[in-house]
Amino acid sequence: MGRTVIHGGLVVNAGDSIRASVLIEGERIVAVADPESSFVEAFAQGADLVDATGKYVIPGGIDAHTHMQAEAFNSTASDTFETGTIAAAFGGTTTILDFAAPVPGANSLVEAVDRYHAKAEGQCAVDYGFHVNTRGIDETRLKEMTQLVGEGITSFKMFTAYPGDWYSTDDQLFRAYRHLGNLGALPMMHAENGIVIDVMREEAVLRGDTDPVWHSLTRPEAMEAEAVHRCGRLAEVAGSPVYIVHLSSEPALEEVLRARERGVQISAETCPQYLFLDLDHLREPDFGGSKYVCSPPIRDKRNQNPLWKALGNRGLATVATDHCPFCWDQKELGRDDFRNIPNGIPGVEHRVEQIYQGVVDGHLSLNRWVEVCSTEVARTFGLHPRKGVITAGADADIVIFDPHTPHTISAATHHMANDYSAFEGQSLPGSVETTFLHGRKIVDGGRYLGTKGDGRFLARSTAA
Ligand code: URP
Ligand code: ZN
Ligand code: ZN
Ligand code: ZN
Repeated sequence: MGRTVIHGGLVVNAGDSIRASVLIEGERIVAVADPESSFVEAFAQGADLVDATGKYVIPGGIDAHTHMQAEAFNSTASDTFETGTIAAAFGGTTTILDFAAPVPGANSLVEAVDRYHAKAEGQCAVDYGFHVNTRGIDETRLKEMTQLVGEGITSFKMFTAYPGDWYSTDDQLFRAYRHLGNLGALPMMHAENGIVIDVMREEAVLRGDTDPVWHSLTRPEAMEAEAVHRCGRLAEVAGSPVYIVHLSSEPALEEVLRARERGVQISAETCPQYLFLDLDHLREPDFGGSKYVCSPPIRDKRNQNPLWKALGNRGLATVATDHCPFCWDQKELGRDDFRNIPNGIPGVEHRVEQIYQGVVDGHLSLNRWVEVCSTEVARTFGLHPRKGVITAGADADIVIFDPHTPHTISAATHHMANDYSAFEGQSLPGSVETTFLHGRKIVDGGRYLGTKGDGRFLARSTAA
């Protein structure tokens, strides 16, 4: 079995930062040990030695929210499982959790998962697991959930948005929460009041307000907060946990905090777009604002600071990208009516580097950066301690991060299959230098060294 010693770096976990050597044998971490010890000296004989002096050695990132080659919004997301996971690897993400989604008009969750297995198998550069998007929740769907939990698919996304498509009624949500809670599985919520939002969308278009910025102006923060509140109350009565995906605004955050104070097991993720982009982006001329159309929408800038603060003080649990890339010609579908713009932003490549900005700006400690990008994601989704931590016995999914080599995001250099970047020109203070998956370098110094299919399906465990 191949041996590697990563030495000279600062090993940063959620709990501590220590100067240590990381010893890898085969696919696993064998030890995190004092570089001076005789054990390390003996192990290093014949091992590959990787010098991480001046760098951070961190657990591989886990992005719990991606949509590779998703059929959505009358289009197909432009990254395949192959291209999207290579981009992830370049950015220090070694696990993605993608959403298996039934095709339009279909409901079966098992069929959706079968189709996603077929799409992803043998294609991925990093490890992957699935959540499942749900619609039409009934007794048959609850039975399918039980089956899928047994297959390691332990989280299910439900929606208070998109009436007539993904939307679930309160009775459906309540039954699903109770069922999943009993299984030790996790309800995930897209929390926006889609019923009210649809009224506002229709009225805007009738007035002639069809530009991209109206996508945000017709999805008020209050209607995100209302839905988060409702989900918290439903979980409270159902006795289940609930995880809010892509939380975008301060009022919604306040509802999370209030519910938690009452003892509800509620947690939430936010995404880089809500931390770095604002309404002015949606106002870019010549339909440029369409690049930033996602749901929930990009908000007024005043929301950014509270979200950063909450990441630092555990008000928010995790950061995911909601990577759902559509190329420029796909966004064109909505030139005359913002309602037809495919929703989504490319982002899987830059999350770990972008959130490091929060360390530089004093919002997060180094340890908290690792926690929100990896460790807490692993805990939330049944992957810990196999993933999300640099410790003996864990998978050797490790990133060497150089805090002193800045770089600039650009569509000209990124690896995502998208002809623009929503973060074009954003200067990042540090860079991912090396990414290890299962003990092997898959990215090093800007080169991809992996092989198609390196990434494996992860059957996840329940909380029970
Ligand atoms: O705009 C977004 N977020 N597209 C992906 C679908 C979703 O609701 O997560
Ligand atoms: Zn980068
Ligand atoms: Zn969503
Ligand atoms: Zn999404």
